[in-house]
Amino acid sequence: MNDAGVINDGAVVIKGDRIAAVGTIGAISKEWMGDLLALPGTSVIPGLVDPHAHPVFGGSRINEFILRGRGASYQEIHAAGGGILSTVRATREASDEELERRAHRVVERMIAHGTTTLEAKSGYGLDLETELRMLRLLARLESELPIDIVPTFLGAHTMPSEYANDREGYLRLVTEVVLPRVAQEKLARYCDVFCEDGAFSLDESRRILSRAKELGLGLRIHAEQFKNLGGARMAAELGAATADHLEALPEEDFAVLREHGTIPVLIPGSTFFLHQGSYAPARAMLAADLCAALGTDFNAGSCQTESMGMALSLAVIKLRLTPEEALVAATVNAAHSLGLGAQVGSLEPGKKADMLILDAVDWREMVYHFGVNLVRVVIKNGTAVNTILTSPLGGPL
Ligand code: NIG
Ligand code: FE
Repeated sequence: MNDAGVINDGAVVIKGDRIAAVGTIGAISKEWMGDLLALPGTSVIPGLVDPHAHPVFGGSRINEFILRGRGASYQEIHAAGGGILSTVRATREASDEELERRAHRVVERMIAHGTTTLEAKSGYGLDLETELRMLRLLARLESELPIDIVPTFLGAHTMPSEYANDREGYLRLVTEVVLPRVAQEKLARYCDVFCEDGAFSLDESRRILSRAKELGLGLRIHAEQFKNLGGARMAAELGAATADHLEALPEEDFAVLREHGTIPVLIPGSTFFLHQGSYAPARAMLAADLCAALGTDFNAGSCQTESMGMALSLAVIKLRLTPEEALVAATVNAAHSLGLGAQVGSLEPGKKADMLILDAVDWREMVYHFGVNLVRVVIKNGTAVNTILTSPLGGPL
């Protein structure tokens, strides 16, 4: 992960929507003819792959952000009926048009910050109708915007209030009604569960993920965010593609993830945004030969950033990854975590021509500049889709 494979004086050949060749400009210009776009003063990196996001929801929880600033914790707000449940109320009330208008803007901002492939979860409906609306909306967004979206069903995000005294009733709704419908209509590729005190227990999470597996869905899990319940280990043993958050993952579970090929997804944005004291043990994970991925976790309440650039900076500042490790986590490893490792995530012949032109000769400037966007042009499937600034490229920053 510490080798980004940088080519100085590099060139990429794009044919249609694919990468045809990559090499030095000297070697490429001997072999290839065609339109040449010279980009002095820039660098080019693969389109970023965000493997963990919740971009569809109604309402705003800015008040919780202020309360946390005054010392309230995410869990206290959640236990008092705020948190996820307040977004569930707002999402159920919002019309399709309203949800779409808002999610469209969110995803556009993600693209402007360099995301070309996005995993996106439901989980703010928590009833059959609203969960299906969210997943169908994700399919529409993918058809409207220049981005690949991998949909994930997160019906077990938290217990909806109408089932507060009937947990078994909700588990049955998810496993016997909603999941089969989602699988039958192919509305999601993965199923995710929030395994945490105040959300779903280890046994409940296992039950939901096992059913999803039976129905042919891939598995992901929100685990060990605040407390070690053993969710990541359990999900790995079921063959989960990823285990996400992991701030409280004990070292003895690293080997279980590695044995089962379960990819840890690091999301330092939420740790940062929630004022959490300790971050995921990313350095120790990498030392144990785990191939981590990196995502935004953009969502309604615990992380409001659409920017993978910000995730890269936080990975370096807070998780102490090198810029190279962070970039590999945010591209090729994230692509593998979505089963798309052969299509996206690196600049290699045959892959989709998804790439970013950065306003810096040294691509690491993108990580060094935190909270700002050095992405000048986004290329998706071989086409420039986003050119946000017009001042001349290149020169000192
Ligand atoms: O990934 N941890 C649980 N789910 C989300 C938060 C969702 C919310 O607060 O609305 C997360 O952090
Ligand atoms: Fe999340």
